[in-house]
Amino acid sequence: MKIILVGASGTIGKKVYARLVKNHEVIRASANQGDIKVDITDSSSITSMFKAVQNVDAVVCAAGSAYFGPFDSMTEDDFYTGIRDKMMGQINLVMIGKDFINDNGSFTLITGILAEDPIRMGVGLSTVNGAVNAFVNAASIELKRNIRINVVCPGLVEDAVEKYAPYFPGHHPVSMDRVVNGYLKCIEGAKTGEVIKIY
Ligand SMILES: NC(=O)c1ccc[n+]([C@@H]2O[C@H](COP(=O)([O-])OP(=O)(O)OC[C@H]3O[C@@H](n4cnc5c(N)ncnc54)[C@H](OP(=O)(O)O)[C@@H]3O)[C@@H](O)[C@H]2O)c1
Repeated sequence: MKIILVGASGTIGKKVYARLVKNHEVIRASANQGDIKVDITDSSSITSMFKAVQNVDAVVCAAGSAYFGPFDSMTEDDFYTGIRDKMMGQINLVMIGKDFINDNGSFTLITGILAEDPIRMGVGLSTVNGAVNAFVNAASIELKRNIRINVVCPGLVEDAVEKYAPYFPGHHPVSMDRVVNGYLKCIEGAKTGEVIKIY
């Protein structure tokens, strides 16, 4: 398959790339490096990416951020940070990409455990994770040309423990192998409309 992997340089993206590249042609896309640069918060940048990389069978995302901080002082603009980035960034990968992707292609997005198991300071992330999960469920029944869509929804990953563990008390880190396998299930398998929970 020919695959675009957005966020290929990240903690999760690096491991997904290492596995996919064994069997597929993988184009690494991210904000500042890789084979092609893309800013998912900018729909014209997404369109340019799809014009530059034609005939893809899978669009895979391991990028997307949101505001992280106390709810008490959170502003409307803070919500929009995640809405523009992790939410609409990924939704626009699908909205724009659906006109470029091959028949029988697939989209694989990323959310996370905070959609249903919140932590302090995570309202921004929880909100967009829930929205993207719902989007995938709904879009799956209307995508044409046998195009599939799923979302990988991991817990705190073991490679990020050093950075984030203090914010995730009692969370059991998930192995990178399990997260990568979640992506493989979406890309190489037959599921559609699924939230692949890896907790
Ligand atoms: N880490 C965890 O434990 C965990 C658990 C569950 C869910 N998640 C979710 O998984 C996703 C990836 O997490 P991560 O920890 O791997 O993140 P990360 O290490 O910070 O990597 C982020 C990746 O996204 C790219 N990126 C950032 N902004 C972008 C933009 N506007 N347009 C295109 N690419 C952009 C970065 O590119 P450059 O390197 O070029 O800047 C990098 O490749 C996030 O949505 C996160 O919420 C993470």
